[in-house]
Amino acid sequence: MTKLLLIEANGNAGEDLLRAAAALGVRTLVATHADLYDNYPPSSKDLIAGTVFTDFSDLELARKALVAYGREEGVEGVITGWEFFSGLATQVAADLGLPSHDPELALATRNKRAMAEAFERAGAPAPRTVSAATAEELAELVAAAGIEYPLVVKPAENAGSIGVTVVRSADDLARAVEFAQGWPFEFPHGTPLDNSVLAQEYVGGVEFSVESAVVDGRVRELAITQKFTTADDSRAELGHTVPAELSSDDRATLLAASAAGLAALGFRHGIAHAEIKLVSPGTARIIEIGARPPGDHIMKLVRLATGVSEAAAYIQIALGRTPDLERTEQRAAAIRFLTPPRAGVFRGVRGIPDSEQVVEAEVYAEPGKELGAATDNVARVGYVIVTGGSTTEANELANDVVGAITVEVDPR
Ligand SMILES: Nc1ncnc2c1ncn2[C@@H]1O[C@H](COP(=O)(O)OP(=O)(O)OP(=O)(O)O)[C@@H](O)[C@H]1O
Ligand SMILES: [Mg+2]
Repeated sequence: MTKLLLIEANGNAGEDLLRAAAALGVRTLVATHADLYDNYPPSSKDLIAGTVFTDFSDLELARKALVAYGREEGVEGVITGWEFFSGLATQVAADLGLPSHDPELALATRNKRAMAEAFERAGAPAPRTVSAATAEELAELVAAAGIEYPLVVKPAENAGSIGVTVVRSADDLARAVEFAQGWPFEFPHGTPLDNSVLAQEYVGGVEFSVESAVVDGRVRELAITQKFTTADDSRAELGHTVPAELSSDDRATLLAASAAGLAALGFRHGIAHAEIKLVSPGTARIIEIGARPPGDHIMKLVRLATGVSEAAAYIQIALGRTPDLERTEQRAAAIRFLTPPRAGVFRGVRGIPDSEQVVEAEVYAEPGKELGAATDNVARVGYVIVTGGSTTEANELANDVVGAITVEVDPR
């Protein structure tokens, strides 16, 4: 039976990938930490054929260990469900001679500093970016490059909008750099993160993500997702809707930007999650591109809206097979996150409607949890997923549902 190596099944894409592999009749071996594996849900454990406990605190050693393991086991494909390991998955697959992206550019699909450099080299449409390890150096580079305020400061290697701020003036730059450098290690594996900080032109407009499958370097669009974020200086995500409502010109602009970004980053065999802002008609700027499944249950939205399993496509491509990309649905699906109205102690969630269109709802925070204000994606307590016949319908329904729900917090 075909064996697949899944580097970390933690996170919300993990179980989707495990289920898709099982449905394809593939045996999945998972690389993880022993203590994390203990806390995997039983539903995930049931789908795992074997584990390899790997020390991810040194990615070069992890790469060697996983290549040796993959060879011994006769693994035929390598994928990841964990964004921090997307570059590693590319390298391990390439070392094993399996379908992968360009291993020379593996870092650039995860590290935003290397990514910005790759975009610039290739002339892909991305905000002008400078990076440095200290606030002083960054301030000098910002001035020398003529990047104006407001600008965006972010850590090179974090995720989930952690440490990302819109900076309005030079006076606030040092504080934003310090904030961006507040997470030197990835959680929960303890992988050390690049401590450089990026300063980037602020890109206005509306944000989308383009989900694609790449087969032999040929890009196939799966869906365009519209993203909804808070409008203040933090950029917390409120939700996503698939498919985004777009004119054909705007679609073409987004797809062209995505394709240019994928080419710049050496995408060959796999899936891509490209976060792109449409600035004005005909102009788009890439925020980032990952060689990985999208987060936030977007794979579920794609499946509900189009019938295509992105998880299955990812696995099929990783194994060198032809992916099933045929659309069997024409619907819209929306996810909205449940966030507290202010910082405080989480009490509970009231008012989730019991309706057929609410296809999934989950509250994962435990009562008594201390919640921060909704400035990043950490303050979420749960989510709801709804479907509708059209994007407008799904968005309206999602608004109604969120409006009916109360996230209760007590003052600290
Ligand atoms: N240069 C920019 N101009 C305008 N908005 C930006 C810029 N960079 C980031 N943002 C906003 O901040 C969000 C998070 O930034 P980014 O994607 O770089 O960080 P992240 O940690 O990968 O976050 P996430 O996991 O939420 O995507 C973006 O989705 C976008 O809304
Ligand atoms: Mg991002």
